[in-house]
Amino acid sequence: MINPLRGMKDLMFEDSQRFMYIVTTAIKVAKRYGYGYIETPILEETALFKRSVGDSSDIVTKEMYQFEDKGGNDICMRPEGTAGVVRAFISAKLDRQPIKQKFYYYGPMFRYERPQKGRLREFHQFGCESFGEASVYEDFTLIMMIAQIFRELGIGFTLKLNSLGCSACMPPYRENLVNFLTDIKEELCEDCNRRIGTNPIRVLDCKNETCQSLLTDSPKLIDNLCDSCDADFKKLTTLLDDAGIAYEIDTNLVRGLDYYNKTAFEFVSSEIGAQSAIAGGGRYDKLVEYLDGKPTPAVGFAIGIERIMELVKMPENIKEGYYMGAMVPEAVEKVLMLANAKRKYKKVTVEYTSKGFKSHMKGADKSNARFALLIGEDELANGTVWLKDLETKEERTIPIEEIV
Ligand code: HAM
Repeated sequence: MINPLRGMKDLMFEDSQRFMYIVTTAIKVAKRYGYGYIETPILEETALFKRSVGDSSDIVTKEMYQFEDKGGNDICMRPEGTAGVVRAFISAKLDRQPIKQKFYYYGPMFRYERPQKGRLREFHQFGCESFGEASVYEDFTLIMMIAQIFRELGIGFTLKLNSLGCSACMPPYRENLVNFLTDIKEELCEDCNRRIGTNPIRVLDCKNETCQSLLTDSPKLIDNLCDSCDADFKKLTTLLDDAGIAYEIDTNLVRGLDYYNKTAFEFVSSEIGAQSAIAGGGRYDKLVEYLDGKPTPAVGFAIGIERIMELVKMPENIKEGYYMGAMVPEAVEKVLMLANAKRKYKKVTVEYTSKGFKSHMKGADKSNARFALLIGEDELANGTVWLKDLETKEERTIPIEEIV
């Protein structure tokens, strides 16, 4: 027997219903905010992710599904959605138009991580990317939109916020941090020692407890922001206060992708265990330019669909449509034709085998239909059908024409 690959899952029944409910709810909200659908390829040139997500990030160094295709091209299964959307934005020359663009997407992402609860190798994201808007109002609006999606799905969350500064305040801060880290080098873990040279900011979110305890007195970027970043961050927190959205400022929130500047955020849930991030995002004003487009400010987020699957409060299953069946073999095709006609308007489940009354009623119950419709010997002779409303329990025999 061939099983699915480690860290990959089939979705069916209740789970696939939940999945689609999450996606449709998120789409409904995104459309209200003016987002349009974008679909980009799952495979992209490896260089795209190296340049955007970052050469030294864990995703690129350890987690990519990277291979050479039959034509000798170095390609990757996308580990996230932003890079592809930015590439598509530039490929379509949208960076040369003065129009603001807003895209939403959903689909599979691939990271070769060690699978555990809430951490898959193939997982799905719903994401949004907004291009051309430099105002912090847009950061605020995106956060409100995620909060609205979670509210409509019945999911509680904690919002964590940080600012990663810009090209004016980040470099001097980085230098400061490197000096601090170099002094405590001996006591930091191996990974952190490597990161001091490659990506010192990532040391801040090291999961090692010893490292974390050594970082309590580390310089904080939030205290060293330039005037513009500081003003934006203060504006964002004021707007969130006014909107009644609670948040925690987390100075160690650096995100695992290198393209962010200014606002960075994560939504976490306390109900799903160690892998608690249910959405993440932020501003990435330099990425379009970095991928050879014209400078375009941008901000976005992605929700991890599998992470919120068990948190979603689904609306009650409403009985709908018809269950149709025949009680004599001669009536089977009559039922079949009736079902096909009725399907222009309603959901219909048909049983192709003629069966007894009790057996049909069991089938009707399982199909979650609102009405059971049966044709037996008498109904066939009289051109009628027997109909039962499974909610009100009312039963009737009516002319077949009334059904269509
Ligand atoms: P990210 O934080 O890497 O951000 O991923 C977003 C969400 O995807 C996470 O919060 C988590 O819920 C889910 N996720 C990540 N890895 C896994 C995994 N291995 N298994 C299950 N779920 C996972 C991004 O990907 C950015 N592209 C978000 C963004 C969009 N930033 C700006 N625009």
